[in-house]
Amino acid sequence: MSGTGKRTYQTYTDNTAYFSEYDRYQERYRQEPRESDKLIVELIRAGLRSHQTAPAILDIGCSTGNLLALLRRELPEAKLSGCDLSTSSVETCRADPTLQDVEIEVADALSLQGSARYDAVTLNAMAFYFNDREFARLLSAVCRLLRTDGLLVAFDWFTPFQHQQIQMMERSLGHPEGVTYHIRSTALVERMLSDVGFTEAKFRPFELPIDLPFPGTDGEVVSYTQRTATGQRLCFRGAFVQPWYHLVARKASGAAS
Ligand SMILES: C[S@@+](CC[C@H](N)C(=O)[O-])C[C@H]1O[C@@H](n2cnc3c(N)ncnc32)[C@H](O)[C@@H]1O
Repeated sequence: MSGTGKRTYQTYTDNTAYFSEYDRYQERYRQEPRESDKLIVELIRAGLRSHQTAPAILDIGCSTGNLLALLRRELPEAKLSGCDLSTSSVETCRADPTLQDVEIEVADALSLQGSARYDAVTLNAMAFYFNDREFARLLSAVCRLLRTDGLLVAFDWFTPFQHQQIQMMERSLGHPEGVTYHIRSTALVERMLSDVGFTEAKFRPFELPIDLPFPGTDGEVVSYTQRTATGQRLCFRGAFVQPWYHLVARKASGAAS
């Protein structure tokens, strides 16, 4: 990789060392699912219409399948699919006996094709990799893939400051040449959602209900919590606090398919 290349996440997808480390990191959340994943499942359950008894759900950027495994346990009737850009993560999913009935493919979220066939689509901790143009394309593709009334459930970084849009380039052991993260305002995202055919957008700030241990400063950056004087848990990644939100939006009737 050249130091002057585009600092996007896609640059790292052929880095097998990074992915074997990342896939190992994900293993810890298989037995004890992430609190944010549990909330994604609850938001899907609450948002599904009563006739959607065997909902078709797609997890874009599914990694090694932790959310899919939780969905399988919690919504046994659901027809599950997942995709990720990382071949090694997809292979891990495919080898997983608990995910045998889940359709999983290597696919770029920005090139997803096909007709409206899902009742819910999840974007779990992955939209922050995309610049605004890519994010608009992603939202448009998700909208096309959803049936009318279908749900988009995302877990991502947003800012409630409506005129603040942030780009942040992080260099770390996992991303030695840097990766750019995008933190968009909820106001901008609401407009982008509406432009492509979503309605009822709701942003819900997420605070971890448990402590995550401080990993030290001499290694890869992972999430950890610190308590404020009032007891609030701030969820850090290395040196910065992550502005996590759950976002739920619904495909409007009349939106393009
Ligand atoms: C931070 S990880 C989150 C993984 C998982 N969703 C979770 O919450 O644990 C981001 C994931 O998005 C995937 N990803 C990044 N860019 C992608 C793209 N353009 N298309 C599909 N997957 C992508 C990565 O390979 C990685 O598995």
